[in-house]
Amino acid sequence: MPIKNICCLGAGYVGGPTCSVIALKCPEIKVTVVDLSKDRIAQWNSDKLPIYEPGLDDVVKSCRGKNLFFSSDITSAILEADLIFISVNTPTKAFGNGKGRAADLKYVEGAARIIADVSKSDKIVVEKSTVPVRAAESISNILIANQRPGVAYQILSNPEFLAEGSAINDLLYADRVLIGGEDTPAGRAAIEELSSVYQHWIPKTNIVTMNTWSSELSKLAANAMLAQRISSINSLSAVCEATGADVSEVARAVGLDSRIGSKFLQASVGFGGSCFQKDILNLVYICESLNLPEVAKYWQQVIDINEYQKTRFTTKIIESCFNTLSGKNICIFGFAFKKNTGDTRESPSIFVAKTLLDEGASIRIYDPKVEQNQIYEDLANSVICTPPEEWRPRVSVHSDPYSCSEGCHAIVICTEWDEFINLDYQKIYSEMMKPAYVFDGRKIVDHQALLKIGFHVQTIGMRL
Ligand code: UDX
Ligand code: ADP
Repeated sequence: MPIKNICCLGAGYVGGPTCSVIALKCPEIKVTVVDLSKDRIAQWNSDKLPIYEPGLDDVVKSCRGKNLFFSSDITSAILEADLIFISVNTPTKAFGNGKGRAADLKYVEGAARIIADVSKSDKIVVEKSTVPVRAAESISNILIANQRPGVAYQILSNPEFLAEGSAINDLLYADRVLIGGEDTPAGRAAIEELSSVYQHWIPKTNIVTMNTWSSELSKLAANAMLAQRISSINSLSAVCEATGADVSEVARAVGLDSRIGSKFLQASVGFGGSCFQKDILNLVYICESLNLPEVAKYWQQVIDINEYQKTRFTTKIIESCFNTLSGKNICIFGFAFKKNTGDTRESPSIFVAKTLLDEGASIRIYDPKVEQNQIYEDLANSVICTPPEEWRPRVSVHSDPYSCSEGCHAIVICTEWDEFINLDYQKIYSEMMKPAYVFDGRKIVDHQALLKIGFHVQTIGMRL
């Protein structure tokens, strides 16, 4: 039976773009994306989508109201669907057993319970959220324990590999699609049905099928290895600064080795985003639970180096500013965890802002896509030593980079937005306090040109 009706639980960074692309490529399939948040659904149905993602507006506009729907009516969407994606959030647990490391599966569990409560016909349930290995088993247990007579479920794992900022491209031209399922006739049939959805635009050879646990672990493994590359180059950036080598030259030389390759070797203030840290922490937690402490320690180091890199960067700022930021204005360019997204989850900017505030600085923030409320919320949620009434007056959010940097002692570049490359730095310099500093945490601006203007410049992985 070909799939005719898809429902997706969770209209976030994963569910929204993924289902929009499925709707675009499968015009005969009705795709309904639902969410507990009515506000989020209202935004998906408006002209201003809740997430910024290059190319997404066009895809949504071309399908919305035809075969792509955003709705708060979760029950109807589940009832109608042959196949249900679970794309709900899986944050790191904030309390209890595994606090700070294990994934909190309460939303996944909630989604499974709604499906079990509502379903009156057979369903293929596809786990798409990033989940720890064996989450499919938990979903399956909940569904089977609450199953109505005559309703059968097949649980598949189909991890998402889209990166924010390039999600539409990643979905349209995926390197591979993984589908994990049970090695039984019904399991193989469900894999085949999901595969046929992707075959509308992904060559069959790029659709890889495997057992559920391999599929779940592959997602964690891919993210852990990508993050490991960044931590590796970041660890070497410290060596470069100590020796006079240039990390960009090292990365280029290393990346030309075809066995290594050139991607994900861009040294930075540290990686952020909703996946890397969470997935590695998950992996570490799983290894500890499996009594594999050496493996757990090995992966923990990838996180530790990331923390070290962020701290190294802020320490450099503080030391350069004569070891005191009290009473100084610091301008932060970029609050998103990378360019081309408004997402700030685990963004290194939060750490930088928090550390500077704790040092007594006043900070002025500019990001082209992050809303002011989000910035205040992120700062309030991060552990700032001083009470909110004390730090809040020391934070302002600006809508353009020139007003943001005016009167500041230093500019700290935290996100690699293209627009930061070609700003009129001469004009910016003339409006800043002297000596004026630029700390480039992304290695994106022309350092020699800034030095010529008169800035003191520091960056990652090279001495200037
Ligand atoms: C990542 C994975 O790439 C994606 O496949 C997975 O499905 C979800 O997690 P995402 O977090 O959206 O995607 O962004 P990514 O492009 O991987 O960047 C993550 C972080 O690493 C960002 O903060 C980025 O700035 C940083 N980074 C990336 C570097 O510091 N250096 C690099 O060379 C590459
Ligand atoms: P991701 O980056 O993984 O997509 P997001 O936080 O952007 O994560 O999106 C997850 C969405 O899932 C949120 O909008 C949240 O409201 C929604 N959600 C959580 N639980 C459920 C549920 N049981 N049914 C429908 N939507 C849910």
